[in-house]
Amino acid sequence: MKRDFLTLADFSTQELKEMIESAIKLKEERKNGIFRKYLENKKVALIFEKSSTRTRVSFEVGVAEMGGYPLFLSRNDIQLARGESIRDTARTLSRYVDMVMIRTFEHERIEEFAKFASVPVINGLTNEFHPCQVMADIMTIYEKMGKYEGVKLAYVGDGNNMAHSLLIGCAKFGIDISIATPEKYQCLQDVVEKAKTIAAETGAKIEITNDPFKAVKGADFIYTDVWASMGFEDEAEERKKIFIDYQVNKNLLEATGKRTYFMHCLPAHLGEEVTEEVFESEISIVFDEAENRLHAQKAIMKWLFEQIDN
Ligand code: CP
Ligand code: NVA
Repeated sequence: MKRDFLTLADFSTQELKEMIESAIKLKEERKNGIFRKYLENKKVALIFEKSSTRTRVSFEVGVAEMGGYPLFLSRNDIQLARGESIRDTARTLSRYVDMVMIRTFEHERIEEFAKFASVPVINGLTNEFHPCQVMADIMTIYEKMGKYEGVKLAYVGDGNNMAHSLLIGCAKFGIDISIATPEKYQCLQDVVEKAKTIAAETGAKIEITNDPFKAVKGADFIYTDVWASMGFEDEAEERKKIFIDYQVNKNLLEATGKRTYFMHCLPAHLGEEVTEEVFESEISIVFDEAENRLHAQKAIMKWLFEQIDN
């Protein structure tokens, strides 16, 4: 049976931990110049309906390093942009390739694609979720702390795809998470409820607030993201006025009351969601997160292919 990687909620804690362990192993092997061909002869289509630096390059490199063949397909170069349906694109590509990664707009688009594709589908970001990024982030947290339970992450900013995937991801791994957003830009209620249900099983604590200073208290990691995500650029000016109280700066960092790492999925807008001072400081681990995209996604692809082979 094929498994799709659309949100972290679709996987058990044990499955997700297996993927992180595998990512750590792949990272170590890569450092030693060992590249095992887990994707030999596999073709992986990478569809982008939005821009990307990290996702595109880490997937292309990751597929190639494991002996597969990546196909970069930007929206404008395929018939999707001229109105060919998601379901026909999914059925057509399934006849050529062994796996598809998509970056798109509404999450329903990827659900529709996965329903009609006969090959595994990976979410490379939707308006609502960004699970590959969160796997890399949780791998980074584990590298820094050596554990999941008893760790606290505070997310400050927009209740967007990153906030949603962090909620589900932290809940799955037993990491405490506190989210501070402006009232108008809160996380979707059904995602919060789902995270709380998962957390009840894993023991993670979940706090939702509008107060960034409350959220960061005792946090080991402070995470933020852009105030206007891709697809929401026309709201940027209006958002800037509201979000300025949620900027990650020295003042907010000091409110954690402990040594705290700074995290960001990138790309960052310095002087907006984070000051240059914090971004460039020694507590900033943003490029470790970016690097871990490569290792985490290699592990995810390897794991998904193993499900089909077994
Ligand atoms: N963090 C992330 O997904 O970056 P890109 O938009 O560059 O892929
Ligand atoms: N929330 C951001 C994440 C970019 C990686 C966006 O969707 O644009």
